[in-house]
Amino acid sequence: MSPTKSREPGKSPEPVKSPEQWATKIGVILAVAGSAVGLGNFLRFPGQAAQNGGGAFMIPYFIAFLLLGVPICWAEWTIGRHAGARHGYHSAPGVFYAISGKRVWAYLGSIGVLIPLVIYMYYIVIESWCLTYAVQYLTGTIDLGTDPSHYAERSATHFANMTGLSQNGFVYAGNLHPSVFWCTVVFIVNFTLIYFGITKGIESFCKVAMPLMAICALVVLIRVLTLGTPNPELPDRNVINGLGFMWNPKGTATDGVWYAALLNPQTWIAAAGQIFFSLSVGFGIIINYSSYLRRRDDVVLSGLTASSTNQFFEVCLGGLITIPAAFIFLGAAGAVGGTFGLGFNTLPVVFLYMPGGWIFGFLWFFMLFLAAITSSLSMLQPAIAFLEEGFNISRKKSVTLLGLISTAGAIYVMYFSKDLAALDTMDFWVGTMMIYVLATLQVILFAWVLGAEKGRQLAEEGAEMKLPRIFPFIIKYVSPTYLLIMFGAWCVHPDNLPARIKSLSEGGVPLFSVGIILAVLVALLGMTHLALKRWEARGIQEVL
Ligand code: ALA
Repeated sequence: MSPTKSREPGKSPEPVKSPEQWATKIGVILAVAGSAVGLGNFLRFPGQAAQNGGGAFMIPYFIAFLLLGVPICWAEWTIGRHAGARHGYHSAPGVFYAISGKRVWAYLGSIGVLIPLVIYMYYIVIESWCLTYAVQYLTGTIDLGTDPSHYAERSATHFANMTGLSQNGFVYAGNLHPSVFWCTVVFIVNFTLIYFGITKGIESFCKVAMPLMAICALVVLIRVLTLGTPNPELPDRNVINGLGFMWNPKGTATDGVWYAALLNPQTWIAAAGQIFFSLSVGFGIIINYSSYLRRRDDVVLSGLTASSTNQFFEVCLGGLITIPAAFIFLGAAGAVGGTFGLGFNTLPVVFLYMPGGWIFGFLWFFMLFLAAITSSLSMLQPAIAFLEEGFNISRKKSVTLLGLISTAGAIYVMYFSKDLAALDTMDFWVGTMMIYVLATLQVILFAWVLGAEKGRQLAEEGAEMKLPRIFPFIIKYVSPTYLLIMFGAWCVHPDNLPARIKSLSEGGVPLFSVGIILAVLVALLGMTHLALKRWEARGIQEVL
């Protein structure tokens, strides 16, 4: 269902302003790919793959890509373009309202503003670590000493001092954490770019940043793949074994069979979660970005190209650099670690051993910074769109307002830095759980409210390739079933929801952080209520 008129009789609708639009096709593809390619590709993916069966992880990973990632991307591109180009709505609440014609969907859509906004509050902090490290490599201020037996410890201490991992606050040993200064810089860069808008800000930046990011990553990759056997006394630590360590399907110590990881539900949950996070699916971002397309702009090939670009960066670049490099220099014991451990503790040690390490260290962290900024920009635009279209606020004022709100959030995350408690809590409840919720809502909206067949027809308007004939069946039955099974399994797994609920009962930063998330959600629901008054007066008219 897609009503074209729903205004009260006798009331003339508020005219819909001609929306901002992407200037070029390559620009929108690079912007969506830029949103997708981020820290998830280079830091989160290698850790997830290595911890969940190595090569075996790629089976559930590609199944999730084909049955969840790509179909939901197409659904997001289609409803976003339809609501934006036809009806002039760009924020998730507005898009959901335009597609369904129902108020309740507008309220549900507020989750699509909450997710990018809250993720921005902590993502920007990690982005600032990347810039801090890049600058430190360039200026030679990363000092891990000269004793190899203490490199790992000094690297961990360096990271802890920079982020405030060991204590709350902004000051360590009488000095402001360096990342506080660089976070301010990163904020200014993000808000300057977003102020310039869709074409002059986001699109122009992504057109430069994406190729630059690819060049930096390729240079580091070539360096890693040509390392050979750097220490002849340890012949096993070579490139081939490094790649094997990452990619050979691994069994567990007890059962040993290569497919052992596939029998563990956690592998499937991790793979689906990685696909969502990495593609920025279920974030409320793709519907926003695609709402600036024109009515007959292609969404099928563009959506597939953006998703495939993300997979190239993730598997071919992210998957071949960190863990193989760590194995070559530090061996199997050194090539393990979570997202941050691998990226910020292990790699600095690796660069120390690597010939020309400081330049590769700089390129690596600068590339991470570029990857992060093209993603963080995309997290700001949905809230800007909501403020603009819900309250008729000018871009300047909405950028200022969003700047104040997100600064408060980032200050909170930086202040409660001990064990990264605030960051971790927000990442769990919003960056993981809410994404499942929004993805499910979008699938229902597309396949059941709009209708899978109608959705397919809309997607193919102006498309440069046809959707697979099985697409309506997949999006209507397979994706929601798969999604609900994954979400259910995720909820009951003792490491996930049960552990987090227990930690909330202990109070402190996790509980307070959840309180903040709820407060933001309530505020967004209230704002959606007010915006709806405006939207109902305006109606779901066709934009000419
Ligand atoms: N998709 C973005 C990333 O991978 C959020 O970091």
